[in-house]
Amino acid sequence: MQLLKDKILSEGQALSEDILKVDSFLNHQMDPMLMKEIGKEFVKRFEKKEITKVLTIESSGIGPGLMAALELEVPLIFARKRKSLTLTNDLVTASVHSFTKKETNTITVSNKYFEAGDKVLIIDDFLAVGQAARGLVEICKQVGAEVAGIGIVIEKAFQSGGKDLREQGFQVESLARIAELKFGEITFAEEKEG
Ligand code: G4P
Ligand code: NA
Ligand code: NA
Repeated sequence: MQLLKDKILSEGQALSEDILKVDSFLNHQMDPMLMKEIGKEFVKRFEKKEITKVLTIESSGIGPGLMAALELEVPLIFARKRKSLTLTNDLVTASVHSFTKKETNTITVSNKYFEAGDKVLIIDDFLAVGQAARGLVEICKQVGAEVAGIGIVIEKAFQSGGKDLREQGFQVESLARIAELKFGEITFAEEKEG
């Protein structure tokens, strides 16, 4: 997605060979006009999938997830990483280990918001080793929903998540794929695995 790539080049910062900082439009301040286009692009890429729900994880998945859900006119459900005062019934959980942050979170959704026959589009802001996406796939399995696809804003293609999920048969669509990060330098890969 050219608009996104341009934004990454003009505002993104490679903090190291592993980490891309995009706090000016995705992870802290959000650019709603760009988010709107991101939502449209996801819908285009998963056309014909008859999606009934969008599923993401707090907090940075909520922006792009909501824009995709708005464009599809279906609900967005975001898995929680922290205990909620009100989310106490019909809980379904999965364990997500973050290699970047070296911590394990239990992610939680309520079964109540899923129904038989749901086709779920999983959305997240970043794809690294894919633990978050795997946790959301696990949640779908537990609630009996079909995974229609996985939409990612920025895939770090030099990490293993995208390859693993595609090998498992999931349609993974990343709007920008980063081939390499060097301090102060960002190189893109092809958007689709070729
Ligand atoms: P994984 O899901 O692919 O296994 O990724 P990982 O555990 O490494 O990611 C942990 C957190 O770090 C996630 O956010 C993820 O979005 C974020 N992250 C991973 N790589 C990058 C990167 O290069 N740049 C930025 N900006 N973020 C990255 P989170 O902890 O769930 O936080 P949030 O959703 O509340 O922002
Ligand atoms: Na995230
Ligand atoms: Na994040």
